[in-house]
Amino acid sequence: MNPSNTISFNVKPGGKLQGSLRVPGDKSISHRSIMFGSLAEGVTQISGFLEGDDALATLNAFRQMGVRIEGPDSGRVTIYGVGMQGLKRAKEPLDVGNSGTSMRLLCGLLAGQGFKVTLVGDSSLSGRPMRRVTSPLAEMGAKIEATEAGTAPLVIHPVDHLQGIDYLMPVASAQVKSCLLLAGLYAKGQTSTTEPAPTRDHTERMMAGFGYDIRREGPRATLSGGGRFTACTLDIPADISSAAFFLVGATIAEGSDLTLEHVGINPTRIGIINILREMGADIEVLNERDAGGEPVADLHVRSSRLKGIKIPEDQVPLAIDEFPALFIAAACAEGETVLSGAEELRVKESDRIQVMADGLVALGIDAQPTPDGMIIQGGQIQGGTVDSHGDHRIAMSFAIAALRASGEITITDCSNVNTSFPGFVSLAAGAGLNISSS
Ligand code: S3P
Repeated sequence: MNPSNTISFNVKPGGKLQGSLRVPGDKSISHRSIMFGSLAEGVTQISGFLEGDDALATLNAFRQMGVRIEGPDSGRVTIYGVGMQGLKRAKEPLDVGNSGTSMRLLCGLLAGQGFKVTLVGDSSLSGRPMRRVTSPLAEMGAKIEATEAGTAPLVIHPVDHLQGIDYLMPVASAQVKSCLLLAGLYAKGQTSTTEPAPTRDHTERMMAGFGYDIRREGPRATLSGGGRFTACTLDIPADISSAAFFLVGATIAEGSDLTLEHVGINPTRIGIINILREMGADIEVLNERDAGGEPVADLHVRSSRLKGIKIPEDQVPLAIDEFPALFIAAACAEGETVLSGAEELRVKESDRIQVMADGLVALGIDAQPTPDGMIIQGGQIQGGTVDSHGDHRIAMSFAIAALRASGEITITDCSNVNTSFPGFVSLAAGAGLNISSS
């Protein structure tokens, strides 16, 4: 066993969050920057890259396929693009660790290459559903082997050619949409995706930023295969999904006053702000500006009293990674909070409905899981021990819960916090959370 799997967080109760800080770079945008920079013609310069295990898994995969990449060095990465046809066969399987984004997006991108490649992941990723990408890719002509359960390892075989697809997505998933658009780059004719609800659109924005002709009409994105990417310069904003822990923490901890700098506020990602505001949070969006095609702002948050709400279902895809943190806000709110329409939470890095409900109950909160959400009664969070099940966002959510707990909270199995938020413990401690790791 990897000894780092034994990392626990110990968080003393109370405290408040103050000052000004910048959380690490956006994970979704970091993955895509490596993919598009590698396929581009010319040299792409990136700043603000997330030096977390997930984005590094994508970076290493492209190195294994022969791309020269310098860095990361304090968030700076230089990619010497090899062009659309320049990737080389990797000698070993590509191990993407815990990263669902790497596996699903790479699966599409690699389906149209002229070489065989195998994608493997850790035990959590190896249990996550991959048919949502392998089935439509098979319709395009791809040849991909998975386990009988439709999970990784995925063995991708070269095929003569891929055929464009007009795909009506059954699940609102940016990973599925992006996977198919990436495969579409290598397909004959047009590829279109139509999503049942808006999901993050970083792929579409970044393809356009690299000069690719991609058309968007409402829920539909369309491109034709055979084009090229031109290298560019990218400034990656801070990840709103990492800022989320601080937005909730500063809201629930009395006396807090915190500014989060240069946070990505892409409209497809701001469900956390919309939902917290509806619960009564005090969040100001300041200095809105553009960072290479992505909107960014500074977020100023002060503590406030929250009330329970029925979370609007149209906000679910816009806050899909933020529900662990939002459940902590709900536990601190007055009255009942109801989430529905969020069955996707059951197939994330852990079953986030069950694992969060178990943790909240262990800390004395009345939390009832439902097939597609949760019903939470606000109350007093007690001290206790919670198992994060190796899920980064669960670990960080229960850490901030201690701001309002009556006793110390211990969270086990926290090493995967490094997948999305390296430096979480020191940044949170600097802002006022009484946290240590052991
Ligand atoms: C992501 C999309 C989301 C999200 C994940 C990152 C992406 O997954 O949960 O953390 O970068 O495209 P789904 O598309 O499966 O909802």
